[in-house]
Amino acid sequence: MVTSLRSFDELAAARWSCRGYEPEPVPQEILEAIATTAQRAPSWCNTQPWHTEIVSGAELDRLRKALAEDGRWGSDFAFPERYEGVYRDRRREVAWQLYDAVGVERGDRAASGAQTMLNFEFFGAPHAAFITVPTALGVYALADAGAYVQTFLLAVESHGLGAIAQAALAQKADFLREWFDWDEDRSLVCAISFGRPDRGHPANSFRSHRVPVAEAVRFHG
Ligand SMILES: Cc1cc2nc3c(=O)[nH]c(=O)nc-3n(C[C@H](O)[C@H](O)[C@H](O)COP(=O)(O)O)c2cc1C
Repeated sequence: MVTSLRSFDELAAARWSCRGYEPEPVPQEILEAIATTAQRAPSWCNTQPWHTEIVSGAELDRLRKALAEDGRWGSDFAFPERYEGVYRDRRREVAWQLYDAVGVERGDRAASGAQTMLNFEFFGAPHAAFITVPTALGVYALADAGAYVQTFLLAVESHGLGAIAQAALAQKADFLREWFDWDEDRSLVCAISFGRPDRGHPANSFRSHRVPVAEAVRFHG
């Protein structure tokens, strides 16, 4: 059995969104251990509404190539129309952390666009997971998928690997539905790219911030 012995606090603090990978694949038994741990995520009424496709190796290369050639765009779940106030500020801050790290100058739309397009190459990761839920289960299936995604990300971290959740891939819902032959009644939530982090990659050189607990939590009683 594959086990890991890092504390939960350590895992949660160490995890970050990895945007540069070594090409070597992760052994199948670790892929299965990650999927097994993620499967322990809680869900409303234990519906376990997620379904995951994990794509690796030559098959992921084939998918990368086909994605680049597909011109369709559109997500199953609506993306936010705009971010305002603190949400806009936080979004900008992390975007600039990334752009500064990879050397994208302010106002260089071509360079920031090219960085965004790396999402569709899975940032060079050897593995990608695609998570769908039944559309009819609505917003709580999305909450369940969120729990699943975080459990998956922490399971990856527990094996000393890196991962990133990617809503960007949700914009290729029609293409991916065809590719994986999903039923019409399932919706794509996001992808997760993962593998061995390229720790020297500039995109992996920064860590995002969090607002203080006092701003996010009110304690009563
Ligand atoms: C549901 C979800 C979707 C995300 N989609 C993307 C994405 O498409 N591209 C990307 O570069 N980062 C994406 N991220 C990563 C966030 O930008 C990142 O989690 C956030 O900035 C906090 O940084 P950290 O994960 O390094 O702590 C996503 C994260 C989540 C949870």
